[in-house]
Order: sequence, then structure tokens, then C-alpha cells
Amino acid sequence: MSISAVMPTYARTDLVFDRGQGAMLYTVDGRGFLDFGAGIAVSALGHAHPHLVAALKAQAEKLWHTSNLYRVAGQEKLAARLVENSFADSVFFCNSGAEAMECAVKMARRYHQAQGDKVSAAKDKYRVITARGAFHGRTLAMISAGGQDKHLDGFAPKVDGFDQVAFGNLNETRAAITPQTAAVVVEPILGEGGIVPADPEYLRGLRAMADEFGLLLIFDEVQTGLGRTGKLFAHEWAGVTPDIMALAKGLGGGFPVGACLATERAAKVMTAGTHGSTFGGNPLAMAAGNAVMDVLLEPSFLKGVNTVAAYLWSKLTPVVAKHDKVFEGIRGKGLMIGLKCKMPNGEVLARFVKQGLLAVGAGDNVIRIIPPLIITDAEVDAAVAMIDRAAASLAA
Ligand SMILES: Cc1ncc(COP(=O)(O)O)c(C=O)c1O
Repeated sequence: MSISAVMPTYARTDLVFDRGQGAMLYTVDGRGFLDFGAGIAVSALGHAHPHLVAALKAQAEKLWHTSNLYRVAGQEKLAARLVENSFADSVFFCNSGAEAMECAVKMARRYHQAQGDKVSAAKDKYRVITARGAFHGRTLAMISAGGQDKHLDGFAPKVDGFDQVAFGNLNETRAAITPQTAAVVVEPILGEGGIVPADPEYLRGLRAMADEFGLLLIFDEVQTGLGRTGKLFAHEWAGVTPDIMALAKGLGGGFPVGACLATERAAKVMTAGTHGSTFGGNPLAMAAGNAVMDVLLEPSFLKGVNTVAAYLWSKLTPVVAKHDKVFEGIRGKGLMIGLKCKMPNGEVLARFVKQGLLAVGAGDNVIRIIPPLIITDAEVDAAVAMIDRAAASLAA
């Protein structure tokens, strides 16, 4: 099959899948792979989950799209459930993580600029503090927010309004605040940046600082959210809440769904006409989102995630330690695990593939182990055995 007509923006592995079941993916020529990358933390319930399949089939036969000119029952249902289970009071639906973050940053600007009657004293408050090593998506604004040279290269000029500080450094954050600062954004665990968990004290410190300076606190939980770390949202581990939160990835279980959640205080400026998305929250997407939530909100679901995550950590940690020529260490939370490599992570990943295991690279020479949340102990055993063999083959 020719791929030459596809714009070559990805360095792709030469595998074509045409079927998935649970944590397994199968190539067109029938080879099976254990999918511990879950389409970059998207397929939270694995592949072809019967409840998701049934929900999408049923919706596909009724109604796909109406636009946001009309009320969408599925949006109202999913928004209510997200609100019920979070700090937020309302939700804007979109199609991706970058769009969810765009909504967050637009809201933060407007929160300050729209206050008061006609012309606000805060009109020039628009700057957002972000963390070095962060990733918020590939729109022009979000590559500027992420600030990484490799994403900005060739796309100058940067979108103005983002100030970067060291991840985890409260003093640097405080020093970066100016009268123009509107908000602070952080991922509770750097994802693309290499699975670097934020210290709970750091997140609590950011909350206090935002309150002290009247800034909005934005958490980008596009990768960490929806059960990935063993809580519905990763910030719950630190016991703090943001004013705004971006979600995507796992929310649609593989169907493109993004969401921007906010408190009433932050969201009150997002009045009719201030923001929009043609496809955002359409009936088909909402059927997927609601089906995912049906499963995630089952009383024992997150308990199961924590149990299998603990098992994975207990099996993987000694294997990582054993292969100390290949791996430097293991870090993360729940089912969001980073293996810091000593050898180039691409070479290690290629050996995983040879064994029949899929995982995902990340910054800082890390391999991400981000399996579907529904993996079994037996699948953990199989994956760890493959990692063991792959690492042994590299050390040989
Ligand atoms: C934390 C975070 N924010 C935003 C994004 C961008 O999401 P999308 O690729 O859906 O636009 C990603 C994608 O990896 C992410 O990990």
C-alpha cells in the first residue's frame, strides 16, 4: 500500500492494523501486538469494547450531526456527568486536546479582559505562564505555549503571550508573574515531556499563587485525565482544583472528543458567540463520550485500575532495575509510566515491537507505558516478559 499521498509529518512504524480486541491489535497480515501505547493514551477501554461499539452503532443509526445551533441531548448529559464528578460547573466540547487548551487560554484572557462594564482595566492581561518541557498541542498558539524548539522550528513568529518557567519551580513561577499575567498552565504529569510527575506541593503552591495574584489556574489533563493515573483526574491526588481543565484523549475512547471544563467564575465570560466548533460535541461524539463515562463511573472501575497498576509496577520495577544498561529508571503514576532509557529510546522501542509489544516514545529519552485501563494481570505478565526479553537482546 502506498503512503506517498499522506503528508509525511509523522515518522511512522511500518505496521498497518485492521482489527483490535481489548488490549490487542492485529495487522492486516494477522500478526498480534499487545498495545501498551493505547494510541497515545486514547484507547482507555481498549479496542472494540462491546459497550462503546453498541453505543456508537445505536447512535449511528439515529443521528450523527445537527450543529451547535441546536441543543444536543448527549452534550447536556455528558457535561452534567463531568461536572458532577469534578470541580467544574460547565463544559465546552471540541474535538481534540489542542482545541480544549485553546478554549482554556481564550477563557483565561476573556476572564480578565471582559470584566467590568465596557473597557476593563485588565485589558492588557493576556499572558500565560507555562512549563518548559510541556506539550499542549500543535496549533500555532499551543506550540507557542509548549515553547519547544522542535515544534516551533520553521513556524515563526511565535504567538505572543506565553512565558515559560521550569516545571516544578514555584520561585521561578512567582518571578515570572507580571501585571499582564492572566493564568498559569500545567500538566499534573508531563506527558510528551517524558512522564515527569509534578510534586503535589508544587500544584498546591500554584493554586495558592494563582489565588494570591488573581490568576486563573489551568490544568492540562488531556493525557493524565479520565482514570489514567488511578483517579478520575490526576490533580485529585494533590487535593487541589484548577479553575479550568482541558480533557481529550481517553474521553472518546478513540472517537475524537475534547472538553474544556471550568468553574462558574471562570466560565461566566464565555457567552453566546464568544467561542465555537462546528463538530464539537456532535451526537456521535457524545454517544462515545457517554459510553466511556458509563464504564469509568462504574463504582469498582478505578479500584480495578489501581489494582492492575500496582501489579504492573511490582512486576516492571525489578525488570527495569535488572537491565541497568538499557534503563535508567521508572517513574509516573498509575497506568502512566515512563521508562527512562540509557540507550536511544527508539532503539529500545524497536526491540519491543520485535517482541510483539507496542509502547510510545516521549521526550527526555523516555518510553511511555500507557496501556488501556482494562488490561488484565495476564497481559501485564506478557508485556513485562516482552520488555525483559527486549532489554536482554539489547544488552547481549
Ligand atoms: C497534555 C497534552 N495536551 C494537549 C495535547 C494535544 O492533544 P491533541 O493531539 O488531541 O490536539 C496532548 C497530546 O498529546 C497532550 O498530551
